[in-house]
Amino acid sequence: MRIVLGVSAGIAAYKAVHLLRLMREAGHQVDVIPTPASEKFVGRATWEAISGRPVTTSVFSGVDEVRHVRLGQEADLVVVAPATADLLARARAGMADDLLTTTLLASEAPTLLVPAMHTEMWNSAATTENVEVLRTRGIEVMEPAVGRLTGKDTGPGRLPEPEEIYARVTELLHEIDGAAGHGTPEASASAPDQALDQGPAAAPTPGRLRGRTVVITAGGTREPLDPVRYLGNRSSGKQGMALAETAAAAGAKVHLIAGTMDVRPPAQLPNITVEHIETAAQLQAAVQRAAPAADMLIMAAAVADFRPAAYAAQKIKKTEDGENPVITLERTPDILAETVQHRRSAGTGPAVIVGFAAETGSAEADPLELARAKLLRKGCDLLVLNQVGETLVFGRDETEIHILTPPRLTVEGSAVVTLRGTKHEAAEAIIAAAAAYVV
Ligand code: C5P
Repeated sequence: MRIVLGVSAGIAAYKAVHLLRLMREAGHQVDVIPTPASEKFVGRATWEAISGRPVTTSVFSGVDEVRHVRLGQEADLVVVAPATADLLARARAGMADDLLTTTLLASEAPTLLVPAMHTEMWNSAATTENVEVLRTRGIEVMEPAVGRLTGKDTGPGRLPEPEEIYARVTELLHEIDGAAGHGTPEASASAPDQALDQGPAAAPTPGRLRGRTVVITAGGTREPLDPVRYLGNRSSGKQGMALAETAAAAGAKVHLIAGTMDVRPPAQLPNITVEHIETAAQLQAAVQRAAPAADMLIMAAAVADFRPAAYAAQKIKKTEDGENPVITLERTPDILAETVQHRRSAGTGPAVIVGFAAETGSAEADPLELARAKLLRKGCDLLVLNQVGETLVFGRDETEIHILTPPRLTVEGSAVVTLRGTKHEAAEAIIAAAAAYVV
């Protein structure tokens, strides 16, 4: 999502650098607006390098694009950390004497101010009144932390730790997401810069993913029943393999977690490491190991939803009395959903998580409806729908896919890209769509 991060002139400005990093790692687009005086504490180059966006402090730069109004209007959330006593006073008075205060005035986005100042200044009648007025206007003013201040003094006035501020930012973004009526609280917090409802995605440009790590799961899983039998599925692994090759061609370092595949991936592939797994539990462990360092996680594997509740150490035998064995199944962990959950609670993880849905549809629901529901249930950023049947998709080289984004990213909340073609063409569209989240 889009965040404006205002920084006013306090020594705690250095902590906002870490806050910015946390926001960026979660995939948010952040425009930093320092006050001119704050540049004495942290320089513009630092903000530009970490945000990857141009930074100005003056209302008079970028006049042609009406920057002071645009940034505030486009933001989903405005955060000011640290907010000094002076900034609180200017915000309360509705002053517009620099780009930050002008943006605060022009923005209708939810606003979080995080004060930092000496205890005496925080407790002063002026600041107390300013905070009260700002709060009555619906602006959230966080309570400062109590602790060591810049000098020898201690007391309330310390900037809360960046992780604490970021936790509140995450909560607010989820509320904003939900309030927009798009998505459930499960919808993801990260968003691409560009909406995808403008026609088919092009192939990712070469080098677009240079320096990025992409983790892809592919193929099917096998859930053992006894030493010679298993429950498996018909996934060929071709789509996952095409995704790995496409991501590597775009410059990424790819880690392919491969289940059972029709064609075993070659051991040596440029920029692709392959890890073989068999069961859903092994896949879960492999994803948990690889996901924290990934920029992109693509869950193309057909993971078993159920596995035998008990494993028979000896081969299950036919019995003389002709009784058929009863096999009890249990649910496997939903690896995709739990990875999304973990990203949300930890505040870090892949900038984009892509799920797949292989749907046959039913008399009651069409596959697109089922896929939309799945996207919201799982909370991933993109969902690729494959319509499957006995003769469709599995093992074939041709495919038809729909790439869905959470409804808030589209005009009407519907499917975004529909593509019929080879699995390599599908892979290019999927990687291009996902690359939009990796800024
Ligand atoms: O719920 P369903 O199996 O239809 O969801 C498909 C998506 O969820 C795929 O991206 C698949 O890799 C992932 N999945 C998972 N863990 C499971 C089942 C599916 O991560 N146990």
